[in-house]
Amino acid sequence: MPRVMICDDEPSIRKTLAEILEDENYQVETADSGESLVSQLRRSESRIDAILLDVWLPGMDGVETLAKLRELGYHMPVIVISGHASLDFAVKATKLGAFDFLEKPLNLDRVMVTLANAIKHFKLERRQAVLEAQLPTVEMVGESPAMRTLKEDIALAAPSDGRVLILGESGSGKELAARMIHASSHRAREPFIEMNCAAIPEELIESELFGHMKGSFTNANENKPGKFEQADGGTLFLDEIADMSLNTQAKVLRALQEQRFQRVGGTNIVQVDVRVISATNKDLEEEIEAGRFREDLYYRLSVIPLRVPPLRERPEDILALAHYFIEGFARAYGRRPIGFTSAAERALCAYRWPGNVRELRNIAERLVIMSRKETLDAVDLPRQLIGKSNDEIWFGKYDSLREARDDFERKYIEYSLHQNGWNITKTAEALKLERSNLHKKMKQLEIQAPS
Ligand SMILES: Nc1ncnc2c1ncn2[C@@H]1O[C@H](COP(=O)(O)OP(=O)(O)OP(=O)(O)O)[C@@H](O)[C@H]1O
Ligand SMILES: [Mg+2]
Repeated sequence: MPRVMICDDEPSIRKTLAEILEDENYQVETADSGESLVSQLRRSESRIDAILLDVWLPGMDGVETLAKLRELGYHMPVIVISGHASLDFAVKATKLGAFDFLEKPLNLDRVMVTLANAIKHFKLERRQAVLEAQLPTVEMVGESPAMRTLKEDIALAAPSDGRVLILGESGSGKELAARMIHASSHRAREPFIEMNCAAIPEELIESELFGHMKGSFTNANENKPGKFEQADGGTLFLDEIADMSLNTQAKVLRALQEQRFQRVGGTNIVQVDVRVISATNKDLEEEIEAGRFREDLYYRLSVIPLRVPPLRERPEDILALAHYFIEGFARAYGRRPIGFTSAAERALCAYRWPGNVRELRNIAERLVIMSRKETLDAVDLPRQLIGKSNDEIWFGKYDSLREARDDFERKYIEYSLHQNGWNITKTAEALKLERSNLHKKMKQLEIQAPS
């Protein structure tokens, strides 16, 4: 059920409009001033789909209220109601993105039509924003030294046609780096074609890469160009290259050497102009050592090797990325961006991010969808995050240095006792303590041998 907020200082108008809208299956909330509208929105736990806003209000007027809403990051459509057409107000409100104007006395049919349009429009806009937010961006966020170096290397490598091999952990941004290289190259207007070598069954990979002719194998019902041909003039991004079989590697190597190949089942030689960028999260040198990856192909592919550092090596980027993703998803879902307390920020920065930027992006999406608060504290973060924020776990529970020191000493002595089979003499030796001192400490810290 769409939710509408009516903001008007005249009780009779609020009442009439609310009744009519409720009859039409809207859920209605009302406010008698701009200030109260804003505070109700901030308290509201569900999304408001549209606002009917009177221009003449005590306190903040309609235009000021609209400006305030936009400033706070609310993007729902606002239909402005004015007592009599005032051009000045209309211009200002339009600039602030008012959806439409209605004049008093209100024509109820027009109210209904305008409202329905506004909500439909907003829905489409949001769907569009969701789609856009899900597209891989070519904006690379992060100003840490490691990211700056990477961006500089990308800028240097992009204009050449040199083959780039991108190394980095899963989710660290390898594909994004590949797209950046393409976008900053002279091939930017030509296709960027991606092929995930791990996702394609061995027996199909050749036909995927080089295409095939009708009838060349079962299910080959059409002549089909492969990725190399699709990428002609542009860039071919070979992802997860370590997952290609040795057989396929040999064929890719030949295609790279000659820049020509045949479609599966074809006789003609196809010649293409393709820049190849490849990526893997595996250690290729190890793969070569183990005989799983061809060394000659490795040298062909990695004319320019680039490494995307894992997120934990650039903690300076974590908050910037978090805010970047949160803003994107807030726009997409019609929610307000959320903020973090400093404890939450510390937890975000202390976490190791095994899933790297992708994990951070997923968490940002989830927080935007699920959070009811404007500012999140550490406890509002996903369990894995506070669970694994070591600083929080280690230090959060102590109330004084003394308590922390005692706890540490107790654990350390217990560990050493355990290592030495609870033999006091040996333990004292290991700890470089006098035997009597160890006794004293054990008593003081209430350490007892297990019975
Ligand atoms: N520096 C960054 N700024 C903005 N977005 C980023 C950044 N790094 C990564 N992303 C985003 O994070 C997500 C994961 O990145 P990407 O797909 O490039 O990682 P990957 O290294 O290719 O991962 P995988 O090994 O799992 O394929 C994508 O949505 C990407 O747009
Ligand atoms: Mg990838």
